[in-house]
Amino acid sequence: MWTYFAEWLSFGVRWVHVITAIAWVGSSFYFIALDLGLRRPRQLPEGVGGEAWQVHGGGFYHVQKYMVAPPHMPEDLTWFKWESYSTWLSGAALLFLVYYVGAELYLIDPTKADLPVWGATAIGIGGLALGWIVYDGLCKSPLKNNDTALLAALFVYVVAASFLFSQVFSGRGAMLHTGAMIATIMTANVFLTIIPNQTIVVSDLKAGRTPEARLGKEAKQRSLHNNYLTLPVIFLMLSNHYPLAFATEWNWAIAGLVLLIGAVIRHFFNTMHATGQQLWWCWAVAGVLFAVVITLSGAPGWRGGQAAEARTLQGDPAVALMASPLMSDVESIVLSRCSMCHAAEPLWPGIGHAPKDIRLESRDDIIHYAALIDRQAVRSVAMPPGNVTGLEPAERETLARWIAAGSGRYVAEARAP
Ligand code: HEC
Repeated sequence: MWTYFAEWLSFGVRWVHVITAIAWVGSSFYFIALDLGLRRPRQLPEGVGGEAWQVHGGGFYHVQKYMVAPPHMPEDLTWFKWESYSTWLSGAALLFLVYYVGAELYLIDPTKADLPVWGATAIGIGGLALGWIVYDGLCKSPLKNNDTALLAALFVYVVAASFLFSQVFSGRGAMLHTGAMIATIMTANVFLTIIPNQTIVVSDLKAGRTPEARLGKEAKQRSLHNNYLTLPVIFLMLSNHYPLAFATEWNWAIAGLVLLIGAVIRHFFNTMHATGQQLWWCWAVAGVLFAVVITLSGAPGWRGGQAAEARTLQGDPAVALMASPLMSDVESIVLSRCSMCHAAEPLWPGIGHAPKDIRLESRDDIIHYAALIDRQAVRSVAMPPGNVTGLEPAERETLARWIAAGSGRYVAEARAP
């Protein structure tokens, strides 16, 4: 039962996460474009710095921006913050479900660091918290007076963090934690700087005080960072579905290049919205950088590219699975029905890399991925795709009976007869 429930829970949380992220990114793109597109075509009311006319959904909108605040604070002021908070909360839930509950499958790579589950989880959560603390420190350092120097320092910082994650976690775990660290910085910017500063400004104005200029300046700088981080964070979140992006020793360098690609594409749109000018060179630069990403993903590793060693699992469930009298049947089923695709060097035409980096070439591999085999080939008929290799119903039955021989996490309870 748990397997079904866990799978649906994960799908449900992911559904929420994607929706909230669309809402956040959408409203953020909208406000950036609106802000940059404000014009002063004529005498505007006092305090109004610019206005925009827009047409959408059968009506016309006339928006005016008060640079500091309107003379009278409106009763019903709409704040934009829950888009961000709900994206972070749903993302944290998903991170927990996929990478911490499933740490052995997705986060821990014993060839890099043979961490216990609690240790990997602690490094993950600690990394996200530290990620924000160091970022916030950089933003408060003397660098704060120079936007470009600060952005350059942040770039180096994020690439360094990505490198460190890639030294202790699996490839996908490292890419995802780099993304989660950036996303945490972005939401913390909203939660701990932008909204609190704006709240002080509003209450100052209501009380007739002049708000400190610093508050607005700080919020604007954080907002600028969020603007440039949006595109890379989406790449990093999606990267765990593409082994070519994560299953390479260069994944941290790919993360760095993607930060640059995201920034240069945002620069194109920011400039276009502000001045109407289209800087096509931005796309050329993005294209070249993307070509470097593609090349790097296939390049030999910087450590000499040793192949990942066979995985060995310890613990009772693994022992039970290994000791099962069905083990050798299961091995020959998997080797004859799955390994042509799921191998370091797949034989199946058109498959250049083990799909999802899942290699099923030895008993250890098979035991390591028992829960996924259960999900993909026993409880569902997702694998082999289109049953191209002709997995027989009796063979699925054997897989099911073998899995029932384990216990705990690796096993999903025996299927009902
Ligand atoms: C013809 C090639 C091929 C064969 C044979 C094959 N697979 Fe796959 N497998 C794929 C592809 C392609 C994907 C990636 C699917 C996707 O992107 O959603 C995949 C994905 C998977 C995944 C990861 C699913 C996920 O999203 O987490 C598992 C587990 C898996 N296969 C197990 C098996 C098992 C077990 C067998 C044998 C019974 C098998 N596969 C046979 C091509 C194959």
